[in-house]
Amino acid sequence: MTEQKDNNRFQHRVSLLESHIGFKLETILHHALRARDSYTLEHSSRVVSLAEVIGNHLKLGDHDMDVLSLAAGFHDIGKIGIPDNILLKPGHLSGDEYEGIKAHPSIGANMLRSLGNQLLDEVADCVLHHHEQWDGKGYPDGLKGEQIPIISRIISVVDAYDAMTTTRSYRQQINKEDALKMIKSESGKQFCPDAVQVLLEICQDGKRPLPK
Ligand SMILES: [Fe+2]
Repeated sequence: MTEQKDNNRFQHRVSLLESHIGFKLETILHHALRARDSYTLEHSSRVVSLAEVIGNHLKLGDHDMDVLSLAAGFHDIGKIGIPDNILLKPGHLSGDEYEGIKAHPSIGANMLRSLGNQLLDEVADCVLHHHEQWDGKGYPDGLKGEQIPIISRIISVVDAYDAMTTTRSYRQQINKEDALKMIKSESGKQFCPDAVQVLLEICQDGKRPLPK
């Protein structure tokens, strides 16, 4: 069922992009990312799914929902440009390696902007800022609070939630309740309070099982 839903979302993004730029960009990038780093592809697909739920709760309009879906799907596409010894390293990154991986939002934004399409320019802005933090301590530009596009703020929270609840080679996943507690403790610091509140509401109102 989830696989079917993911497939429907993927097909929606394929059609959306095809109608805007005339070729199957989503399909091309999907295969490129799968070839490079299948974890990032699966992670991005889960981020789309939960980001869309949060976007709906925040009552984003249709256009912003389209930008959100595309930006969530492409948020880490710039990792295609990160060397294997950093991207696929089975352990903690050194300071220099971490600096290298911090280039991925700019690489991704530049890839999307290179197509010269208005919709993808908007998506690129949101991809560029998905590692900014509410308190201004993020990257690449150190934007603060509402200077950060709302779409990037939503992706940031969902990205962290999915990363925490998934096992990677260098760390074990934590349970969903503990992940939500950690995210709540970063509300107004790393994360946008509105996006955190909606994530907590949809996970804790008893009407919806914890995502994933
Ligand atoms: Fe990222």
